[in-house]
Amino acid sequence: DQDMAALVAGRVLDVPDFPQPGIVFKDLMPLFADGPAFRQVVDGIVAHHGPDSFDVVAGIEARGFVVAAAIAYATGAGVVPIRKAGKLPRAAYSASYSLEYGEATLEVHQDAFMTGQRVLLVDDVLATGGTAGAALDLIVQANGSVAGFSVLLELGFLEGRKRVAPREVHAVLTV
Ligand code: PRP
Ligand code: MG
Repeated sequence: DQDMAALVAGRVLDVPDFPQPGIVFKDLMPLFADGPAFRQVVDGIVAHHGPDSFDVVAGIEARGFVVAAAIAYATGAGVVPIRKAGKLPRAAYSASYSLEYGEATLEVHQDAFMTGQRVLLVDDVLATGGTAGAALDLIVQANGSVAGFSVLLELGFLEGRKRVAPREVHAVLTV
């Protein structure tokens, strides 16, 4: 809803030329740092999907971890980290993707989900959709059932939704 979108809109900073010239980095740390606003946004994401619609929350390293842990604590769900390559200690599935700036690989433990376990995927920003697409592939590879996907901020002009289709994207704010 509009109130939630305004909470995000008022707490995101545009950082030009980070991490590379020509990229405008969307920094949501002011939202994370504002306790009441962050709680409201987290509660809004939970309400959007329904607190009983997922069993576990998957968060994408690194900024997705913040959102995932908050939703998990608020609902009593567990957290599954989807990590950048080489960080997980045990057997993992991998998915590579191209980013607005470069190439990257995400991984999830092969035993991260029980078969059919309902997984809510969250991240801070949906830009080109490469990150989210890879994370969704990993959830499926690991036999999870995708219950939903939320981001705090969607950059509509980068058309990340197309890369995630036919899955739906819930964005608290789209710019
Ligand atoms: C940023 C952001 C999203 C991703 C979105 O993460 O946090 O995860 O990019 O981009 P995309 O839709 O074009 O794939 P980044 O890879 O910069 O890493 P971080 O979260 O560890 O800062
Ligand atoms: Mg990220």
